[in-house]
Amino acid sequence: MNEIAIRRPDDWHLHFRDDAMMRAVVPYTARQFARAIVMPNLTPPVTTAAMGAGYRDRIQSAVPAGVEFTPLMTCYLTDNTDAGDLAQGHADGVFTAAKLYPAGATTNSDSGVTDVFKIMHALERLAEIGMPLCVHGEVTSADIDVFDREAVFIDRVLAPLVERLPELKVIFEHITTSEAVAFVDEAGPNIGATITPQHLHINRNAMLVGGIRPHAYCLPVAKRETHRLALRKAATSGSAKYFLGTDSAPHAREAKESACGCAGIFNAPFALESYLAVFDEEGALDRFEAFASENGPRFYGLPLNQGTVTLRREPVTVPETIDASGTAVVPFHAGETLGWAVV
Ligand code: DOR
Ligand code: ZN
Repeated sequence: MNEIAIRRPDDWHLHFRDDAMMRAVVPYTARQFARAIVMPNLTPPVTTAAMGAGYRDRIQSAVPAGVEFTPLMTCYLTDNTDAGDLAQGHADGVFTAAKLYPAGATTNSDSGVTDVFKIMHALERLAEIGMPLCVHGEVTSADIDVFDREAVFIDRVLAPLVERLPELKVIFEHITTSEAVAFVDEAGPNIGATITPQHLHINRNAMLVGGIRPHAYCLPVAKRETHRLALRKAATSGSAKYFLGTDSAPHAREAKESACGCAGIFNAPFALESYLAVFDEEGALDRFEAFASENGPRFYGLPLNQGTVTLRREPVTVPETIDASGTAVVPFHAGETLGWAVV
């Protein structure tokens, strides 16, 4: 097969940032995807419906003329989330989902939730109104090894939460471990998961062998090879619980290439090409459309997109850097050649 046309896909987990960076990166996503779940970890974070509406409008004004793209907004949960505002934001169509960052887990998560069981009133409200919860699934305790933080989160937080609120729709985001795959496989239909391109392509060696490579660093951090293989199997399995979410997270080159480099991989420019390479390698081209374009909207209860995107088997070389309004950003696969190109 040298050409594949799929229903227009969506990105179910994405960071656009704000201002000049946002204006520079929105077109890359809008070129490929019809919708994207936009993360709220700005400074300050998007914690109210009014802030969500303002951010949505700024994103919409950065979409190139003639391109159809809808940002789906998320509300950043804190210990003090106003459940009434959250529900009203959902009813008004501002917020599609709520986002749970355990405090301190990642970039701009300092105002996140210190203990999930302290915001049960807000989570119960989500379950009542059918509003999905997007979860950054890592514990943050200093005594837990960074490579174990996802697996420990399942035991300490996610499993008890799902047991307590079986009606709640939960997206276990950017999963990185075989433990997460096992949890999702065994859970009920209310539990889905997104998988990033980087966690399908690289293991932790990419970050640490032959020198420390900050552009392969994101959170949750890539794990050992057995986990990557479990993720590839899950993504290409045909299970409706897994769907595309890039976690594209642009940071200025110098913020990554630093003594304390930021977490995040900017994969938006060649996201579909990157995912398709994996499905091709796994002999699962026939399952790509479900992962990219069907499982996500079905899980969220949203309509499937109209229109198609076509990819052709032809070499495409990813540039070493991308200019984001004067700021250099190093994309995922920088300098590599991928085997499929969006037509
Ligand atoms: O690597 C990451 N970068 N993981 C996250 O959870 C946040 C993101 C960011 O905002 O940079
Ligand atoms: Zn993210």
